[in-house]
Amino acid sequence: MSWLDGVRILIPITMEKVYLDNAGAGPLSRPVIDAVERFLGLWAERGEPWDEALEHIVEARHLFADLIGASLEEVAAVPGVTYGYNALLSSLPLKGGKAVAGPYNFPTTYYSLHGLRRRGLLSDVVILDSREPGPGLEDWERAIDDETVLVVADAVSWVTGYEENLKELARIAHEHGALLVTDAFHLVGVKPVDVKKLGVDALLTGSYKWLMGPHGAGFTYVSRELLDRLDPMLSGWMAVEDSVIERMHRGERLFERPFDTRSLRPARDAKLLEWGTWPAVAFEGTLAALRLLREYNAPDRYESHTGRLVERLIDGLEGLGYEVITPRDRRAGIVVFRHRDPYELAARLAVKGVIVSPRPGRVRVSPHFYNTKEEIDILLEALSPPRK
Ligand SMILES: Cc1ncc(COP(=O)(O)O)c(C=O)c1O
Repeated sequence: MSWLDGVRILIPITMEKVYLDNAGAGPLSRPVIDAVERFLGLWAERGEPWDEALEHIVEARHLFADLIGASLEEVAAVPGVTYGYNALLSSLPLKGGKAVAGPYNFPTTYYSLHGLRRRGLLSDVVILDSREPGPGLEDWERAIDDETVLVVADAVSWVTGYEENLKELARIAHEHGALLVTDAFHLVGVKPVDVKKLGVDALLTGSYKWLMGPHGAGFTYVSRELLDRLDPMLSGWMAVEDSVIERMHRGERLFERPFDTRSLRPARDAKLLEWGTWPAVAFEGTLAALRLLREYNAPDRYESHTGRLVERLIDGLEGLGYEVITPRDRRAGIVVFRHRDPYELAARLAVKGVIVSPRPGRVRVSPHFYNTKEEIDILLEALSPPRK
């Protein structure tokens, strides 16, 4: 059996539908469903399987660190992108200065910047005003100056599919003494990522899209250099140096010694961003998903397979006369094309079992490593040439 057939039999939806909305939510695989069911079963029969949950969270951190080329101490296990981002922002040593954000980020990364500005922790929030599909380096260079303390850019835009040039952006940010934080939800799990080569200071990802886990889990990478500069304003019982987890690792009884609640001594690693009890059920599923990815989504898979699906899709759409917004030379797994009536089209395709995502004036198609070229062709056949 080929690797592709091998993985597809583990993903029930592939038997029923042509699923091309991985940028919305990835499909659940059998191992993920089994891991969650097993964990809940254990809990129901024997009480909370806490020790196992902890081991699994540590293993999930390990696998994620490997996936992005980070070390274990630089990775926090968090309940999602928004939560990870806010824990990070509230720990940055901000005292004014400007934040510069990309024009086509997912909404979640903008709001807290405005909140920080309202509190005077940022002096200004500049959102780049560049044309689709995304900003060129010259746009970033114009906006980032010596007043800039923070640059926030989505690695791949949810709305145009444009892949940011993170390496160059990190260089520009660092030349001005600013930090680069990237929401890489649409990059990690799609293409190989090496945070050290990219030079980003922090990176965020969630579980439920390209990693193919359930909702409620995510990871925050923070470089060792930035970890040393963090100064948490908010914290919690899991995020401190003398947490129950650290006590457990030291072989102590968890609650025997009183906690020093008169001061805040944050954990020295990325755990300082893990404020409270982890969403263990979500991490059970996410660990199973990470293992599946490790087994089937080999590092060269984008080049040898997924990227070719994307290329075939763009060729086919352009051949039919559609205007593709996503640029060929800066793309990952998301392909976006213009359409006069995207909601009607998505509904019509759904009747045929083809799942894509409508957005105002456009349609987003997002194949992943388990999709086939036959599935791309089924979509293309179901699309008629655009009405002028
Ligand atoms: C790029 C991006 N970031 C963040 C989110 C939301 O993340 P979470 O639900 O984990 O907060 C989404 C959801 O679609 C997204 O596309």
